[in-house]
Amino acid sequence: MQQNELEQTLVLIKPDALKISLTGYILSQFSEFHTGLRFAGFKIVHVTRMLAEIHYAEHRGRPYFPVLVNYITGRIHYSDSPRRRRVIAIVYTGPDAVAKIRNIAGPTNPHVAREQKPGTIRALGTVVPIRDAEGRIIGERYDNLVHASDSTASAEREIKLWFRPNDIMPYMRIFPTVTCQEHFYLLENHLITDYVPGSVCLLAPGDSAWESDLILLEKVRRGEAGFEALATVAAKYLINRVGEPD
Ligand code: RTP
Ligand code: MG
Repeated sequence: MQQNELEQTLVLIKPDALKISLTGYILSQFSEFHTGLRFAGFKIVHVTRMLAEIHYAEHRGRPYFPVLVNYITGRIHYSDSPRRRRVIAIVYTGPDAVAKIRNIAGPTNPHVAREQKPGTIRALGTVVPIRDAEGRIIGERYDNLVHASDSTASAEREIKLWFRPNDIMPYMRIFPTVTCQEHFYLLENHLITDYVPGSVCLLAPGDSAWESDLILLEKVRRGEAGFEALATVAAKYLINRVGEPD
């Protein structure tokens, strides 16, 4: 089997797509019939701020960043219904998965998608002005329905961010895993290795973990990496587990 037979990419069906019931259409566009790609993982995720901020870390500092986080966490499209705030996270596997999915998703800006790539999914999206407290327009929000990894390196980072190894079928797990030898808990944004009431168990002995995650946790434990690294590992273990105040 060639290496890129198992290329993987992360898709998120975003809250705007769920709100206007485009899920079936999107899954159909990305289906094996059209793309030759197969599902490797699939889950419904209530997106925490932690997960959103790490996922979109490269946009931190941009004027639209706070709005982007509110968008992907579902606060914009489900402002009055916290319980409906969710995205569908999918790992697709197969030859040229990243490029195939990006081509069907289309350009980031839905207006550009409509002009230049009609027929792509994002051509069905909308653009909404972002205003400051005084009502001045300071940017645009692209409600573009889907996320798609932009490179194999991004895909690896994003799949490991959203999925635990055991969320993915064994023979479709392409990134190295190791068996955890000890307990790791999260307590108020700190890493601890002995249980304290109120802490959340991230990993226990015998659990399968991404190898790169255990390397990061070791760095955090030694004080060589901070909260960002800890959150990168922890976010997936908190999915659908810890509620956030709304
Ligand atoms: P995505 O990550 O969601 O698949 O989108 P992308 O690769 O096509 O675009 P990227 O640059 O990664 O941007 C991520 C998301 O941030 C929002 N965005 N807004 N107003 C702006 O200038 C702007 N630029 C990016 C979009 O929602 C985009 O999907
Ligand atoms: Mg992107």
